[in-house]
Amino acid sequence: MAPSCCKLLCASSRLLFAVSLLAVATHAARPNPVRIAVYWGQGGGESTLNETCSTGLYSHVNIAFLSEFGGGRAPVLNLAGHCDPTSGGCAALAADIASCQSQGVKVLLSIGGGIGSYGLSNETDAQNLAAYLWNNFLGGSPSSSPLGGAKLDGIDFSIATGRDDYYDELAKNLKTMYNSSDLARAGNKTHMLTAAPQCPYPDKFLAPALKTGLFDHVWVQFYNNPPCDYASGTLQSAWNTWTAALPSASVFLGLPASPDDAARGYIDVETLASQVLPMARSAANYGGVMLWSRRHDERTGYSAKLQDIANNTVGTQRSCTFLVFGMA
Ligand SMILES: *[C@@H]1O[C@H](CO)[C@@H](O)[C@H](O)[C@H]1NC(C)=O
Ligand SMILES: *[C@@H]1O[C@H](CO)[C@@H](O)[C@H](O)[C@H]1NC(C)=O
Ligand SMILES: *[C@@H]1O[C@H](CO)[C@@H](O)[C@H](O)[C@H]1NC(C)=O
Ligand SMILES: *[C@@H]1O[C@H](CO)[C@@H](O)[C@H](O)[C@H]1NC(C)=O
Ligand SMILES: *[C@@H]1O[C@H](CO)[C@@H](O)[C@H](O)[C@H]1NC(C)=O
Repeated sequence: MAPSCCKLLCASSRLLFAVSLLAVATHAARPNPVRIAVYWGQGGGESTLNETCSTGLYSHVNIAFLSEFGGGRAPVLNLAGHCDPTSGGCAALAADIASCQSQGVKVLLSIGGGIGSYGLSNETDAQNLAAYLWNNFLGGSPSSSPLGGAKLDGIDFSIATGRDDYYDELAKNLKTMYNSSDLARAGNKTHMLTAAPQCPYPDKFLAPALKTGLFDHVWVQFYNNPPCDYASGTLQSAWNTWTAALPSASVFLGLPASPDDAARGYIDVETLASQVLPMARSAANYGGVMLWSRRHDERTGYSAKLQDIANNTVGTQRSCTFLVFGMA
């Protein structure tokens, strides 16, 4: 019944326009239809953090990366050419972060990445890092902190090298600190844990941490991982494995935003919208899409195209539903 209704009634563009106006009126400030998490911070010539958030394309921005920590190292923030943290040069980002948050974008600090030197040696090391993260970026956040006192929305675990131990301890410690904070007492869930495991299951570095069940969002890297490529036909079974393994998290499909950005795993945006996302959405804990990275997305317009396609699809469905309802 619905498809023929669409053909008959949605054929009138004037009617569709009127119905769209009604839809806009009842869904004021509807956000973009696909939740997209993006990594920001490592791209030369990338737009600023505030510009990134102001595009309205993203639900989450991961600041990449806290690239050195643990094992007696002093934690070091590395934001490539954006700013120099050694001289307090990244403190100005606090204003951008506040602006992002006021626009409804969650901002997280991503620890790890592929460039630095990090790893946790023992439980004390994990406790110390949790305290450092809490005091500088989440709970205390003094103006002397590397991001100028910004209170972030959470910590992202993007662990790809070094030792694989004690990240479960880090997650538990962060959760415990959050639990005993005023934020939690007020019932205000502003602090989340996220992670970016490699797709082959289970991930060597993050498996024990993910087993804690403490992660809110998990963006699985379906790129540079031939066993999980869309092209090799194994994406769906890998997706089923991850979504079944993380019932308490929402799972995002991590993809490159440009074909020359990752050795493998690029999916053109039309195929993503018409083939892959409908499959991914069949999982109850589907979360959205994660893109590496803002710089590449800016160059290719990948997320803008994806939101545009999704907007048109959602718009058509909503109009038709409205008409059917209105006629019933
Ligand atoms: C834990 O690791 C830290 C950093 O490597 C080290 O300084 C400390 O001695 C270790 N503690 C124990 C109890 O092994
Ligand atoms: C961020 O961008 C918005 C929209 O362009 C602007 O209104 C705001 O002043 C900017 N904030 C900062 C801190 O640059
Ligand atoms: C945090 O609090 C929640 C809700 O009260 C509780 O279920 C959970 O076990 C606590 N987690 C930790 C690590 O303390
Ligand atoms: C929850 O956090 C938001 C954002 O920081 C704040 O605006 C709001 O007042 C807080 N609500 C409570 C009940 O603490
Ligand atoms: C999609 O629709 C939302 C809500 O109407 C709008 O804010 C956004 O700009 C649209 N996105 C694109 C890419 O057209």
